[in-house]
Amino acid sequence: MISYARQTQEEQPEAPPPVEEHIAPAPRVSVQAFCETVETAAAVQSAGEDRRLGKAHLKIQMGGMMAAIEAYRSAPTPNVIVLESDARSDLLTGLDQLATVCDAGTRVVVIGRINDVMLYRELVRRGVSDYVLAPVGAIDVVRSICNLFSAPEAKAVGRIIAVVGAKGGVGASTISHNVAWAIARDLAMDAVVADLDLAFGTAGLDYNQDPPQGIADAVFSPDRVDTAFVDRLLSKCTDHLSLLAAPATLDRVYDFGTDAFDAVFDTLRATMPCIVLDIPHQWSGWTKRALIGADDILIVAAPDLANLRNTKNLFDLLKAARPNDRPPLYCLNQVGIPKRPEIAATEFAKAIESQPVVSIPFEPQTFGAAANNGQMIAEISANHKSIEMFLQIAQRLTGRSETKKQKSSLLSPLIEKLRGK
Ligand SMILES: Nc1ncnc2c1ncn2[C@@H]1O[C@H](COP(=O)(O)OP(=O)(O)O)[C@@H](O)[C@H]1O
Ligand SMILES: [Mg+2]
Repeated sequence: MISYARQTQEEQPEAPPPVEEHIAPAPRVSVQAFCETVETAAAVQSAGEDRRLGKAHLKIQMGGMMAAIEAYRSAPTPNVIVLESDARSDLLTGLDQLATVCDAGTRVVVIGRINDVMLYRELVRRGVSDYVLAPVGAIDVVRSICNLFSAPEAKAVGRIIAVVGAKGGVGASTISHNVAWAIARDLAMDAVVADLDLAFGTAGLDYNQDPPQGIADAVFSPDRVDTAFVDRLLSKCTDHLSLLAAPATLDRVYDFGTDAFDAVFDTLRATMPCIVLDIPHQWSGWTKRALIGADDILIVAAPDLANLRNTKNLFDLLKAARPNDRPPLYCLNQVGIPKRPEIAATEFAKAIESQPVVSIPFEPQTFGAAANNGQMIAEISANHKSIEMFLQIAQRLTGRSETKKQKSSLLSPLIEKLRGK
């Protein structure tokens, strides 16, 4: 848990985390920070605005250790205290004093400038949960606080990938389903596709599933949502892939509140390593929230002007709302429709200031057959060129490379079992 010396002086404190690093959001906890410098206070402040601390209640004060001791003489302590402290002797005696006024269960994170193993040992002995070396960036504070509440083995658990089209009908659902399939098959990660287009979603059709229950049962009874309940709503598509299907019926309307899906997402996050959200092309409180709250985002665009404008707008909004995350990814789809004038990938890249992950060609025969047969592209045509592209998207989104299929040995089930313990 201690991230001592994790950060060297040369490192950019503001750099977003690498994609392999997954920081799970913190639960509803109270965090109080006592800073000594305005730089640290600013970093903690912007950490508080990060999506992963969206549920936490953060209060920032100046005054460092002395202010903390003073504050908790009379007030109850929060779940987490973040303390900035520069001097070694003051830090240790201060912590001893703080211990006398601290409630049991309060976790203490120290931000300091001294890079020294002896100090680190003394801090561990005093029960400090984490020591972060200053100067800190917002993401360092986010990481430190979130890691207090996620078990070390939970690292792979709960990555949410949101897929949305820059326009309707550009193939966002098709791509999300095929990418999820690649994540499950080629990366051997357990994945679930949540079809959020409740009225018209096609995930059930695409995977050839017609489950009696699905996401509507969860979203319309939020009080019942827990792991066991959501588990029963999943239908199994392949070994590693499940579906939380949309009802695709019109007997009710689907006007959701902004946080209608929070409970479902939180529950899926607790048990599923990879959650692919197939988000319909609409702009509402809950679709915006699903995008901003996701760990990674893929925007699917067709190569025309309206798609370019919409992709740019989505990028700008999402980058501003997620300053400590890497920018969204995007791909072009339905490229090369005969006789249709197109905007080139290079033009897109210039306007968006980012390259598309892939440009998927328009292939009506294969994609049409897959859609009408309820199959994935790889099932229709094992060597189709888009399959490699879906895998590339899967790898970029998850930060994982393909598993070596030959690697399993006689011992691997046993090893898996031991690891599970
Ligand atoms: N690369 C492609 N080539 C040909 N047809 C495609 C391609 N991608 C998607 N389609 C087709 O486009 C239609 C709309 O796709 P869909 O995934 O439902 O779009 P969205 O979710 O963005 O509204 C579907 O009929 C699908 O089969
Ligand atoms: Mg769709």
